[in-house]
Amino acid sequence: MESHVRKAKFSDAYGIFELIQEHTDKLISLSISNISQNIDRFFVYEEKGQILGCVSWAILPEIGKPKAPTLEIKSLAVHSSYQKKGIGSALVTSAIDNIKDFKPTQIIALTFAKGFFKKLGFVEVDKASLIHKIYTGCINCTRYESPLTCPEIAMGLSFPEHKDVH
Ligand SMILES: CC(C)(COP(=O)(O)OP(=O)(O)OC[C@H]1O[C@@H](n2cnc3c(N)ncnc32)[C@H](O)[C@@H]1OP(=O)(O)O)[C@@H](O)C(=O)NCCC(=O)NCCS
Repeated sequence: MESHVRKAKFSDAYGIFELIQEHTDKLISLSISNISQNIDRFFVYEEKGQILGCVSWAILPEIGKPKAPTLEIKSLAVHSSYQKKGIGSALVTSAIDNIKDFKPTQIIALTFAKGFFKKLGFVEVDKASLIHKIYTGCINCTRYESPLTCPEIAMGLSFPEHKDVH
């Protein structure tokens, strides 16, 4: 499939906002200004001038010299009418291709779509092993008492070849 994935522009912020709003049962809502301020962290899938999907990424915190730098794939959404056509895979694959240049030892996603990430080579990771990294994202969660009672599953893609560079 020809790739329609590209880096996001400021003019995409509203389209990204609408896509995320369509899936707030599975994604954390973001304001348009928050999206605009972090537009350099977004990729979009565009077809015939319409934004059909988006994905973002974040660096998870680590104290001191990074020993196991971990990136998170987040805000992944595909327009409901265009799902199961490869758009989500194209977005995540492009995001990974870009962010792996930072040489993370791991890329993770907290998700309900376990099977989707499994098809992209991710494997389930024990959430308890990530608590110190996902803490800042989870601390303001209003849905669940603890990341360990949250039903989202942690899926991870490892880059053992990057371990020696840290
Ligand atoms: C999850 C999501 C991004 C997948 O996007 P998509 O464009 O439909 O995915 P693709 O078409 O690339 O699917 C690739 C494969 O994963 C499978 N798949 C898609 N969504 C899945 C899901 N929720 N659970 C299990 N498998 C799934 C597809 O059937 C397809 O399998 P195939 O290769 O055997 O045909 C999309 O369903 C979505 O936006 N969901 C709502 C928001 C969300 O859950 N985001 C993820 C939070 S991290």
